[in-house]
Amino acid sequence: MFEWRRFATTAAGAEKISGKAMKDDTLLTHAGRDPKGNFGIVNPPVYHASTVLFPTLEAFLNAGSARVRYGRRGTPTTHALEAAISELEGGCGAVVVPSGLAAITSALMASVKTGDHILVTDSVYHPTRHFCDVTLARLGIETEYYDPLIGGGIARLIRPNTSVVFVESPGSQTFEVQDIPAITEAAHAGGATVIADNTWGAGYYFKALDKGADISLQAGTKYVVGHSDTMLGLIVCRDEALFAKVRDDAQTLGMCAGPDDIYLALRGFRTMGVRLRAHHENGLRIARWLADRADIARVMHPALEDDPGHDLWKRDFTGASGLFGFVLKSDNRRGLAAMMDGMKYFGMGYSWGGFESLLIPTWPERSRSATSWAPGGQTMRVHVGLEDPDDLIADLDAGLDRLARTD
Ligand SMILES: Cc1ncc(COP(=O)(O)O)c(C=O)c1O
Repeated sequence: MFEWRRFATTAAGAEKISGKAMKDDTLLTHAGRDPKGNFGIVNPPVYHASTVLFPTLEAFLNAGSARVRYGRRGTPTTHALEAAISELEGGCGAVVVPSGLAAITSALMASVKTGDHILVTDSVYHPTRHFCDVTLARLGIETEYYDPLIGGGIARLIRPNTSVVFVESPGSQTFEVQDIPAITEAAHAGGATVIADNTWGAGYYFKALDKGADISLQAGTKYVVGHSDTMLGLIVCRDEALFAKVRDDAQTLGMCAGPDDIYLALRGFRTMGVRLRAHHENGLRIARWLADRADIARVMHPALEDDPGHDLWKRDFTGASGLFGFVLKSDNRRGLAAMMDGMKYFGMGYSWGGFESLLIPTWPERSRSATSWAPGGQTMRVHVGLEDPDDLIADLDAGLDRLARTD
């Protein structure tokens, strides 16, 4: 019989599965799997379930204490991914939800109440800002945006009713690296919970909980899934009490992800380390190539030595994903269309973290309120995938040439 109990979502359970000395690449391979409890089959089974039957009235009456009691509350497939991601991030428990945005909204809803004030980085993913400005505002929660580079200076913004400090590093579209240890120290001194959107570091290149965050969440849609075919959100909590609250609130809101999507995330999890190393290498090579060009005003990639966030990135991260930004010197819309419409390998579309390269124009200046973004040309966001970087460079080179030749 399948032993779901082995997929514990507590630190003690995780230790039992992994042993203490397990390195991340070993953990990616083994966490959340139990072949011995599953006929020797390597991967966990996909449980499709709504109804779960109870054998006796007593068991039915004690359903509240059963780990598997109704499909919406998770099955062994769900628990396998929760155990795996919790181990990777060093948490005491994880909650799987249907999208990255659901991870953000669930974590925030579990941490605020009417009358609270929250601090959110000005470089936050735009739908997070929208949720704060519309939904949380409607519930009487005030959001104040802060300069992502504020560091320990955030102490002066913390009020008696500040319940959350939300960080995202590097920032969406502009890629500022935040001093998360300094921010979390000040936040905790003021009694606030720190929630980190850790999608860029994927829990692999950045250990948000080790650096002080209370909740590390990510869009599993990106690097965990890694193949641009599944939506999923992952929330990992540092302590039991917070985990219980986040899980309870997410379940109360009816958050539940589909078993096939969870299976695809578990499958992606196994190869995330090798993929991320390739994204790092390819991305950095293309960032350096762009930085050397006369038609590029600026490249925002924290692994570049002259990036303003480089020292913090080097201190706190172990690698860089494939997502970064750059600014064209040109602001010519017709030229941009000539460039974008003819790209051979770079697709144009939302999301990132898949095996394929993407390129889109962005307008960070439209959503800033605590800081300004006026780079002088068109801002771009690139996701460097797993193609041969020589082909990607040739594609970009031809695109930038089309841009230059169009009035
Ligand atoms: C930094 C970041 N967080 C969260 C999300 C939301 O993820 P999802 O698209 O799975 O809702 C995204 C999506 O692009 C993102 O870039």
